[in-house]
Amino acid sequence: MLTFHVITLFPESLTSYISESILSRAQDKKFIKIKTYTPRDYAEIVGENGWRKKVDGRPYSGGPGMVLLPGPVLRAVAKAKGRANAKRKFKIIIFSPGGTNFTNTYAKGCIDKKYTDIILICGRYEGIDARVKKILKAEDVSIGEYVLTGGELPAMVFMDAVSRQIEGVLGKFASLEENRISSHEVYTRPEVFTYQKKKYKVPEVLLSGDHKKIEEWKTSKNK
Ligand code: ADE
Repeated sequence: MLTFHVITLFPESLTSYISESILSRAQDKKFIKIKTYTPRDYAEIVGENGWRKKVDGRPYSGGPGMVLLPGPVLRAVAKAKGRANAKRKFKIIIFSPGGTNFTNTYAKGCIDKKYTDIILICGRYEGIDARVKKILKAEDVSIGEYVLTGGELPAMVFMDAVSRQIEGVLGKFASLEENRISSHEVYTRPEVFTYQKKKYKVPEVLLSGDHKKIEEWKTSKNK
C-alpha cells in the first residue's frame, strides 16, 4: 500500500476529485491511502491584527505575496511521518513551478522504487521558506511550464498519474492499452455521425475486423 500525505492549507479543495475518480477506487481496493494535514493545525497563535493562527510571513527579500513559515509545515510533515519505522520508505516532494519535470517515467519510478509513503507539500502564495526543502531533503517537482496559484492541483495530478501505475489499479485491459492511449484516435458508435449536415465516418479499417491492419493503424496514429 502506498500512502500519500498531502500537506495543504486547503484540504477540502482536494475532496471532490478524490472521491469521484480513480483515486477513490484505488483507495477502496487498498492500493493507496490519501491523508491530508494542514499547517494551520500546527501554527502558533499570534496576537497582531486580532488572534489568528499564523502560517505565513512576508519574504525577507521584499516583494509581493507571502511565504509559508517553516515551523507549521515541518510540524505537519513530522505528523505525517509518525514514529520511525524501518519498513517505511519515504519520498518528500515540494510542488514548485521551477522543479524537476513530472512525467509518466517519474510516476512509474515512484512505484519501481517501492516507496511506502510520499509526502506532497503544496505551496501557496509566493512559496515555502527554503529551509524546509533543505531540512527535509525534499525534491522540487513541477507539473508543467506554467504558474498555478498553489500546489493542490499538482498534488492531484501527481497522485492520479502515480496511482494508475500501480498494478491492479487499472483493469488489465486498460493497463495493456496504457502505452497507446496516450495519443491514438478512438471512435465509438455510431458508424456515421452527422453534425451540422456533415457526415463524419469511423475509419474503414476499424470496421474491417482485420486485427493486424488495426494494430498497424493504431501504431501509425500513435506518433
Ligand atoms: N506551483 C505553482 N505552479 C506549479 C507548477 N506548474 N507545478 C508544480 N507546482 C506549482
